[in-house]
Amino acid sequence: MIKLPTITSVKNLKDKKVLLRLDLNVPIKDGVVTDDFRIRKIIPTLKFLEEAGAKTIIISHLDEKEGKTLEPAAKILISKFPRMKFIRDIYSNEARSETDNVSAGNFVLFENIRNWKGEKENDPEFVKHLTSFAEIYVNDAFSASHRKHASIVGVPGLLPSFIGPLFASEVENLSKAFSPSHPFVFLMGGAKFETKIPLLNKFLPLCDTMFIGGAIANDFFKAKGYFLGDSTVSEENFKLDDMMKNPKVVLPIDVRTQHKGFRFMKKPTEISIGERIWDMGEKTMKNLALPIRDASFVVWNGPMGNLEAGETAGTIELARLVSQCRGMTIVGGGDTVAALEKTEFFSKFTFVSTGGGAMLDFLANETLPGIDAIRKKTAPKAVSWFKRLFS
Ligand code: 3PG
Repeated sequence: MIKLPTITSVKNLKDKKVLLRLDLNVPIKDGVVTDDFRIRKIIPTLKFLEEAGAKTIIISHLDEKEGKTLEPAAKILISKFPRMKFIRDIYSNEARSETDNVSAGNFVLFENIRNWKGEKENDPEFVKHLTSFAEIYVNDAFSASHRKHASIVGVPGLLPSFIGPLFASEVENLSKAFSPSHPFVFLMGGAKFETKIPLLNKFLPLCDTMFIGGAIANDFFKAKGYFLGDSTVSEENFKLDDMMKNPKVVLPIDVRTQHKGFRFMKKPTEISIGERIWDMGEKTMKNLALPIRDASFVVWNGPMGNLEAGETAGTIELARLVSQCRGMTIVGGGDTVAALEKTEFFSKFTFVSTGGGAMLDFLANETLPGIDAIRKKTAPKAVSWFKRLFS
């Protein structure tokens, strides 16, 4: 497993200025956070820094579709850490004075760093501005570390850098998939087939069963020459012959569809004009019950049905099956997690990743840009830098 310097192994953090990268990119509706999973997961990190007496400056992005301001997430954090200050403009005098005067064990939280152009561009001037607030950098935003942005790959170039405890647990748990115990069942759903191909190619030799559901199953049906009506399929025609011949690959034998406002359960070969595949069918799920129950290791990413259209049956049924597995179970993917969080099965998975795209990229490449940026710091020159700072 990759060895990375972890902030929890640093002893003397008292009064140290820490620039902490979190992923507070959470779903927001009408100014209210609708799913606080990622916020709950970083509370132990904040408590650790509070107790260690660090002076912490928190940075995070927010996806455009959730809006421009981190205020809804800030409200939740401030309710737990009442002395935390939320600063809207990272170039203001207030930003400078609050970060200069932050007391030991306290926090300053900056507004959405994507509001400034330099973040996505990894602009060196922007990186310099971010690093001007702190002495060391901690990345506890595993789920954003597939982005080559200033706060992920730029800052570690200038400051002694560590990963946080949440990041460490993501790496530790997801790395188990690289030398899995068997039987290993790999469950893949969601859409955007092109983003899933590297993962399917990598894990096909490693797993014993690979179930393909969600919209990506439609690309297999298309490759088989089935008529799919109005179902979602990739524009590109992928060459899937080898994969389809592999006996480890399992496709849905029945699907839930919608047609003219009515719902049906049928074979994927029976789709009519105007009909759409929305979800996996009951027989498909029944067939998966035994392999999943008896697996030593299950990895699942991506929903089985169109969650945005309210089609949750297949995803929830799969969650029930995975929750009954006797072995280790790892589940991830932003939409999947959001759909399952309120179910009784959620607490039964061994590990739930905060990563969506980052989980996929890490599993496919065994690293992420954010990891590579910190790894460069473990070179001998950087180690002596750490020693000077913490002596
Ligand atoms: C995520 O939600 O996957 C991460 O926060 C990354 O967000 P992004 O896709 O907007 O970069």
